[in-house]
Amino acid sequence: MNSFLVKGGNRLEGRVKISGSKNAALGVLAAAMAVDGPSVIENLPDIIDIQLLLNIFKELGAEVTILDRGTVRIDPTTVTHSEALLESVRKLRGSYYLLGAFLGRFGSVRMYLPGGCDLGSRPIDLHIKGFENLGAVYEMEQDGVISLKANKIKGAGIFLDQVSVGATINIMLAAVHAEGTTVIDNAAKEPHIVDVANFLNAMGANIRGAGTDVIRIQGKAFLPAGKSYAIIPDQIEAGTYMMMAPLTGGDILVENVIPKHMEPLSAKLQEMGVLVEEGGDSIRCVLEKGKILKATSFKTMPYPGFPTDLQPQAVTLLCAAEGTGRMIESIYENRFQYIDNLRLMGANIICSGKLAVIQGGSKLVGAPVEARDLRAGAAMIMAGLIAEGETRVENVYSIKRGYENFVEKLTAIGVDIREVNPDRTK
Ligand code: EPZ
Repeated sequence: MNSFLVKGGNRLEGRVKISGSKNAALGVLAAAMAVDGPSVIENLPDIIDIQLLLNIFKELGAEVTILDRGTVRIDPTTVTHSEALLESVRKLRGSYYLLGAFLGRFGSVRMYLPGGCDLGSRPIDLHIKGFENLGAVYEMEQDGVISLKANKIKGAGIFLDQVSVGATINIMLAAVHAEGTTVIDNAAKEPHIVDVANFLNAMGANIRGAGTDVIRIQGKAFLPAGKSYAIIPDQIEAGTYMMMAPLTGGDILVENVIPKHMEPLSAKLQEMGVLVEEGGDSIRCVLEKGKILKATSFKTMPYPGFPTDLQPQAVTLLCAAEGTGRMIESIYENRFQYIDNLRLMGANIICSGKLAVIQGGSKLVGAPVEARDLRAGAAMIMAGLIAEGETRVENVYSIKRGYENFVEKLTAIGVDIREVNPDRTK
C-alpha cells in the first residue's frame, strides 16, 4: 500500500478547483441504470469509487463510453437481467443503489451486499423497508446474496424513521417506475439527493420535493432519458480544503462550488474567527493577520446540519484552535477511531461515546499514521500540515477513493507532499 509523506509547517495559499461530488455521482450513475435509455453524465470526479462503479456497469453488460475527461455515456438498455452477483459489487458500498435501480426497472434483483466499513454496522434496513412498502418480497440468501422480487412495484407512502441518504436515493430509484405515486416522508435533504432527483427528472421522471423532507414520485412506465446531465460540485471535498486555510494560517480560494451547500461549514468557520468570503461559485477562507482561531462546538446532523463527512477534518482543525473544542457525532456510532492517530501525533483529545473534547493548542509532531477511511485519511493529511517534521499517512487507496488529483491540488496551494511506495523508501 502506498503512503503519502507530508512535511508540516507551510502556510497554504492559492486556488483549488473542486471536482464533481462523489456521493452525487454514485447516485446519479445508478440512476442512469434505472432509466430506459442512454444518458451522458458530465463533471464526474476521476476517483476510485467512480471507476469501480463504471466497471461494475460494464460487467453487467451496460454500454459505458468515456466521451471526455469526466464525461461518460451510459446505455443501460443492453442490460437485460437483474442479477449483480459480482465480486466487484462487494468492494463498493455505493453499488447497493443497483437494488433500487433494478427493482424499479426489472421488478426483481439479486446481488451481493457490500460490506460495512469502519464507521459502524451501516445496516440497510430502511432501504429494505422502503422496497417492501413498494411491494417487493425481500430474502437474504446464503453468501450474502440479497434478493428482492415484486409482481408489480406499486407507489406507496414510506416514512423513514431515521434520516438516511442511501435509503432516500434507493427508494427514489425504485419508485420512478412504480405504478402510482410514492411519498417518502422524513427524507434526507443532502445536495446529492437533489442532484439524483434532478437527473431523473431530466430523463423523464416526475419527482417533486427533493431537498425537503417530503419527496413525491409519480411513477412512469417508461423513462426515455437521452439527455446530458452535469454533477454538482463536491461539498465535502470543498469543505476539506476550506478548513486547510485557517488550519495553516493561510488564504485559500475554493472554486467551482455552490456556496449555499457550504453554509453549515462557513457558519462554523466564521464562529471560529475565520474570514469567509462568498463569490458566485467560489469561497475564500482566510485567517486574517492578528486573528486567533477560536475553538467552538460542533454537532454532526443530516443536511442542512454540519456534515458527518467533515467531522474528522473539523476535529483536526480544533487541535489548532485556541481553547477547548467539542464534537458530537450523532450520525455514526463509531466515527472517532481515527483520533488514536491524532493522539499519536500529540493531540490532546478525550472521547466518550458520541462526544470528543479537543484541547486546542497542543503541538503536533509527525508520526506514521493510517488512513482508516476516506475522510479520516484527509484529516491525517491535515494533521500533517501543522505537525513538526514529516508525517507518513498509510493506505492512500482510501483517500484516492474520494479526492481527485489530491497530491496535485495540495501541491498547488503549497503543501510539501509526495506519494511513496513503502517497499521502495528503505
Ligand atoms: C451516505 O452514506 C454517504 N455515502 C456517506 O459518506 C455519509 O457519511 C452518509 O451518507 C451520511 O451523510 C454515500 O453517499 C455513498 P445514511 P449512507 O444512510 O447513505 C443509519 C463518505 O465519506 N442507517 O444517511 O450509507 C446508518 O447506519 C461516506 O463519502 C440505518 O440505520 O448514510 C447511519 O448511522 C462515508 N439503516 C445513519 O443511518 C439504514 O437502512 C445515516 O446513514 C440506512 C442507514
